[in-house]
Amino acid sequence: MAKRVVLAYSGGLDTSVAVRWMIQEWGVEVVCVLVDVGQDVDSSESFDDIKARALAAGALDCVIVDAKREMAEEFCAKAIAANARYEGKYPLVSALSRPVIVRHLVDQARKFNAQAVAHGCTGKGNDQVRFEVGTHALAPELEVLAPARNWGMTRADSVDFAQKWEIPIKATKEKIYSIDENLWGRAIECGAIEDPWAAPPEEPYTLTRVTNFEPVELIVHFNEGVPTGLDGVSMDLAELIATLNVLAGSTGYGRLDMVENRRVGIKSREVYECPAALALIAAHSELEDMVLERDVAHEKTRLETRWAELVYDGMWFSPLKEALDAFMADTQRHVTGDVRLRFEAPGLLRVVGRRSPKALYDYGLATYDAADTFRHADAEGYVHIYGLGVKTWATRQGAKNATPPTS
Ligand code: ARG
Repeated sequence: MAKRVVLAYSGGLDTSVAVRWMIQEWGVEVVCVLVDVGQDVDSSESFDDIKARALAAGALDCVIVDAKREMAEEFCAKAIAANARYEGKYPLVSALSRPVIVRHLVDQARKFNAQAVAHGCTGKGNDQVRFEVGTHALAPELEVLAPARNWGMTRADSVDFAQKWEIPIKATKEKIYSIDENLWGRAIECGAIEDPWAAPPEEPYTLTRVTNFEPVELIVHFNEGVPTGLDGVSMDLAELIATLNVLAGSTGYGRLDMVENRRVGIKSREVYECPAALALIAAHSELEDMVLERDVAHEKTRLETRWAELVYDGMWFSPLKEALDAFMADTQRHVTGDVRLRFEAPGLLRVVGRRSPKALYDYGLATYDAADTFRHADAEGYVHIYGLGVKTWATRQGAKNATPPTS
């Protein structure tokens, strides 16, 4: 059994209880690592308050790592390149942050000479898969511990446990929602959301509330697939995402309500709010429509689905995912240009314009007016040969259902 454990610490009830529980039950030393991936820590609470809680729970130390830029520039940027939406909808909010956290856990485990890392996930979700598979991909020698899977405590038991050990928690015995958040958005589960027939309640939303709706139009600039600015103002990606979350979110855009297939065989109803993620993917994919050659575009769509599944399934660090990253990166070389977004009505986004110096869109070829450069006469032979196989088939064997039903 490990002597020293590095715990992925959020400051919440479960991970705070996990610190003391592992010390008592497993006799280990616990180092906490809080990775800032842009989660909006409760504004009444600073990272210092959270660190104090970890120490009060008995942690040897609590390291705070600012990984916002890393999350944006490496993880969100790759998700944009892959237009990544699991099951065609969910932009991988939590799935994207876990490998960032894992990388820092492993790094700190080495710095602190720990033999294990730990997380606060239960046995029913995807996040345990991501922590464990991710850790073993980076550090096969480390053990991964999951105290919340072993302790068999209810939420009320955990609150009692925290009180008994004088851990200063803010949680109460009734918790309604389970919320995970980072730069890329917010994932909300539990409570009334578990009834898939019930409309999602308003209360857990924070990014996508509309007070006074006003249409917003804005231009997103891209360089080689990466968003680089808004309306002529250059920004680093973390700042751009944060800005767009506010701009787009205040128009009510960015909510998702879905029943998804978890890796562990459970269908779950979850709601999300991810205004910047959805807007950037919409814009990026429109720009690709201007610049990607047809076969590349079609093959990319197929591989995007696979990329999103791999990342959802905890395979960020895996050979297929890395190979797909290389494909995605190659396709992004010409994805440079601007996209005009219009947030037209509450919750509604339209892409209304796109331009690129690398566009394959050719006005002369596309137009029906006098500027037309397309060689019309060439079409005759081309279409004849293209359809020849079907014509021969119809002549020799006859097409089924050749006459309309009324005659
Ligand atoms: N269902 C989403 C996913 O698997 C979100 C999970 C959110 N995690 C949480 N602890 N609330 O990626």
